[in-house]
Amino acid sequence: MTIDTHDWQVLTSSQGQRLGAEPGAAGSSTSDYWPGVTRKYVHGYSQRETLRLQEQSAILEDLLHHDTSYPPGSRVLEAGCGVGGQTILLAARSPQAEFTSIDVSRESLVVAAATMAQRGVGNVRFYHADVINMPFRAESFDHVFVCFLLEHLDEPLGALAVLRSVLKPGGTITVIEGDHGSCFWHPQTRESLQAWHSLIASQFHLGHDPLIGRKLCPLLTQADFDVREATPRWVYTDSRNPGLRDGVLNKIIVPMTQTARQQALDLGIIDKHTFDTGIDDLRRSGMPPDGTFFYTWFKAVGVKRS
Ligand SMILES: C[S@@+](CC[C@H](N)C(=O)[O-])C[C@H]1O[C@@H](n2cnc3c(N)ncnc32)[C@H](O)[C@@H]1O
Repeated sequence: MTIDTHDWQVLTSSQGQRLGAEPGAAGSSTSDYWPGVTRKYVHGYSQRETLRLQEQSAILEDLLHHDTSYPPGSRVLEAGCGVGGQTILLAARSPQAEFTSIDVSRESLVVAAATMAQRGVGNVRFYHADVINMPFRAESFDHVFVCFLLEHLDEPLGALAVLRSVLKPGGTITVIEGDHGSCFWHPQTRESLQAWHSLIASQFHLGHDPLIGRKLCPLLTQADFDVREATPRWVYTDSRNPGLRDGVLNKIIVPMTQTARQQALDLGIIDKHTFDTGIDDLRRSGMPPDGTFFYTWFKAVGVKRS
């Protein structure tokens, strides 16, 4: 056994199911962050955000995961698993790999564990832990997987160093991140641009990087990985693919932008009228007949040198 569980909380699927029924366990707007980690997370932990993360992973599954799989028996660490949106896909695509998924939000882990139990997924264990201070021994995982986490960290390079330390030599790290600078739509009004930019500015204000997707190759190189792949995974939608257009815009981009509304207003980055008008305009780029939308996620795979 390579995992030291002493003093660390493990949630099994059945515990998660039980805890998931407790009042406030799911959908609360606050979260019990790991001690010492300040509440600096632009999207928050509302029920709407839980739904967005679950829908997002399903909508983007083929785009992001058509080439994600792990060999039978391999040990995979997923850092920043949230409510398990990616976890469920990883576990289903590699049913004979063993996944260990961590997050600083215990209430998100409860939702994730309950989902795994509901779907009968047995190859995942959840730990309540901070990525920069994990309870795992050096070189105890064959692979590491990270999705939409680095963009929310104060020190992504520091986190990559920690993740590298728990990876065996020759093991891989897969990182998927968005890049909010890659987002274009039509019709693009001044207000819709300002609303979108208020999300970017709010995230930068927290000391985080919403443009990190384009930097994955240099970041992995700086963290001493050999980069095996770094690819853009883009989505373009128009009236010929209304299902995708509705999914990406109304289930991912609009609700994601709305998570920053209060922070952006509090910071004085934007006023209420402009933000709300901008959101309505953004939605219009998902409407027939003229609306179009474009966004790019990035996926990189690095190998730890032997
Ligand atoms: C945008 S969500 C992505 C969740 C999941 N990877 C997905 O793609 O659905 C980011 C997650 O990172 C978690 N997180 C933020 N800082 C963290 C840290 N220092 N250590 C571990 N998890 C962290 C948040 O609690 C949140 O659940």
